[in-house]
Amino acid sequence: MIFESHAHYDDKQFDQDRDELLLSMKENGIETIINVGSDFRGSKETVKLMEKYDFIYGAIGIHPSDIEDLNEETCRWLENKAALEKVVAIGEIGLDYYWDKEKEVQQKQRYWFKWQMELAKKVNLPVIIHSRDAAEDTLTLMKGIHAEEIPGVIHCFSYSKEMAAEYVKMGYYIGIGGVVTFKNAKKLKEVAASVPLERILLETDCPYLAPEPHRGKRNSSLNLPYVAAEIARIREITPEEVIEATRKNAERLFL
Ligand code: NI
Repeated sequence: MIFESHAHYDDKQFDQDRDELLLSMKENGIETIINVGSDFRGSKETVKLMEKYDFIYGAIGIHPSDIEDLNEETCRWLENKAALEKVVAIGEIGLDYYWDKEKEVQQKQRYWFKWQMELAKKVNLPVIIHSRDAAEDTLTLMKGIHAEEIPGVIHCFSYSKEMAAEYVKMGYYIGIGGVVTFKNAKKLKEVAASVPLERILLETDCPYLAPEPHRGKRNSSLNLPYVAAEIARIREITPEEVIEATRKNAERLFL
C-alpha cells in the first residue's frame, strides 16, 4: 500500500469530485495521505480534511510565496493547531526565489522560513521544505539553525545529486514525484538512482505535476504507481520494493 507524502486536496481543482476521489483511494492502493497546507486558507482546510478522513493526516504551514498570510493571529493559529494529534508536520515552508527576485522579499522569506523551522522544533514536529532556485540559501539557513536536529523532507526535490547527498547527510528525506517520469528530467533521475532507498518519499504535489502518461492533466495520488515504477526502473528493483520502502520511510518520519 502506498503512502502519499504530499498532496493538496484542499485545492479548488478538486471541488467537483473531492469526496468521491478520496473515497476511492483505499481500493486503489493508496493507504495514507498527508495533505499539506501552503497558505493560511489551505492549512485551515487541511485540518478539516484530516478530521473528516481517517487516512488523511495534516501538515500546516505557509509557503514562501504566501508569507503575507503570516501575522500575529495566524502564527498563534499555527502554534495552537500544531498540537492536534493528526497534525504530523509543519509545511510546506521554505524559500522560493523563482517567483520572487527582490532582495527584500527574499529576506522576508528567510525570516519566516526560520520562524516556522523554530516552531517545528518547539512543537517537536518534522518539516516539509519547499526550495526552488534557492539551493545555497536554503542549506546555509538550515545549517545556521542546526536543522539536523529537526527531521524533515525536501519535497519535490529539484537540485543536483550532490545537493541531495548534503541533505541526506543532515538526516533529511528526499521527496520524489511525477517529474521523475519526464524524459528530460535527467538530474532528478540521477537523484533517484543515488539517494539511499531508505531516504526517499513518494509524493504527488497534486493537483500539480502529473507524471507521464498524464503530464499536464490534473494530478492525484492515484498516479503514484507511475512514479514508483519509474524509480524502480532506475534502481533496477521492483515497484513493490519502492512502495514498501517509501511507506516505511514516511511512517518513520511522520507517524
Ligand atoms: Ni506542494
